[in-house]
Amino acid sequence: MAGLANERARVLSNEEVGPGLHVLSLESPGIAGSIRPGQFVHMRIPSLESHVLRRPFSVYAHDADAGILDILYQEVGSVTKLMPHMSDGFVELIGPVGNTWNSAARRALIVGGGVGAAPLFMLTEQLVASGSAVDVVLGAQTEKALVCRERYERLLGRNPECATDDGTYGRAGFCTSLVEERLREGTFGDGGPYEYVAVCGPVPLMRIVAGLAADAGVPCEVSMEKRMACGVGACLSCVVDTVDGKRRSCVDGPIFDAQEVVW
Ligand SMILES: Cc1cc2nc3c(=O)[nH]c(=O)nc-3n(C[C@H](O)[C@H](O)[C@H](O)COP(=O)(O)OP(=O)(O)OC[C@H]3O[C@@H](n4cnc5c(N)ncnc54)[C@H](O)[C@@H]3O)c2cc1C
Ligand code: FES
Repeated sequence: MAGLANERARVLSNEEVGPGLHVLSLESPGIAGSIRPGQFVHMRIPSLESHVLRRPFSVYAHDADAGILDILYQEVGSVTKLMPHMSDGFVELIGPVGNTWNSAARRALIVGGGVGAAPLFMLTEQLVASGSAVDVVLGAQTEKALVCRERYERLLGRNPECATDDGTYGRAGFCTSLVEERLREGTFGDGGPYEYVAVCGPVPLMRIVAGLAADAGVPCEVSMEKRMACGVGACLSCVVDTVDGKRRSCVDGPIFDAQEVVW
């Protein structure tokens, strides 16, 4: 956990980007300068005095030179439903927390469901920058909830493959059918086999993609976003069942080899 910073980060903007979805932009030079793909920050909002426990959020994008990081968050409960009201002021961050995605593959398939597309963006940036071939599949409930699509499109120079549950954009239904096709074509088509799959999103999506990757013989990593309390490995509230026993998502993860997770 070397390099963990405790930083008071100024809120630069907090913009609604979709239904119940917001991008919070923070001035956090220490963490923005050291964060790596897949890592997260543990955030406390001093103005919400009744909520003493920090909340974990992945870093969506960062600008190390400007000292800025973006978080894509979804309103789900007591803290995240109040966060849209923060227009200025400060939050307290501990970070960067956790391990990172494996970014060494020369041909990778990235699969993001809902806000799970956010923690994969920096990984995709790193893969593209190192010259790897990257395919991206995104899924969301509706077109309006597909809020990461344009950033991925700008990065890839082409549209990621998309599916929406209600069919308002891309393939109608779950994005797992696109993943199945990609893995089949990647394995038997002209592009050569994938060396790596990374997936983040709802547990059923990650479980299905893990199974598809295993069937195709492709290594797969998942980000296990368990509920967390301490965020530093002390309370065991975030354990994940693995073939090696219980592991803590905050310090042993959040990235795990999909074949090691007991689904
Ligand atoms: C490593 C990590 C990275 C994360 N990255 C993001 C992110 O980039 N964007 C984002 O929007 N959220 C992310 N989350 C989830 C986020 O931490 C929770 O949504 C947040 O803590 C909820 O706080 P709350 O007070 O609003 O909800 P609470 O009032 O505490 O809970 C409300 C509801 O949300 C559910 N919930 C709480 N925590 C989680 C969780 N970790 N996973 C699934 N459901 C949960 C509860 O079961 C409950 O049903 C991440 C979680 C982890 C562990
Ligand atoms: S949150 Fe306390 S051990 Fe992981």
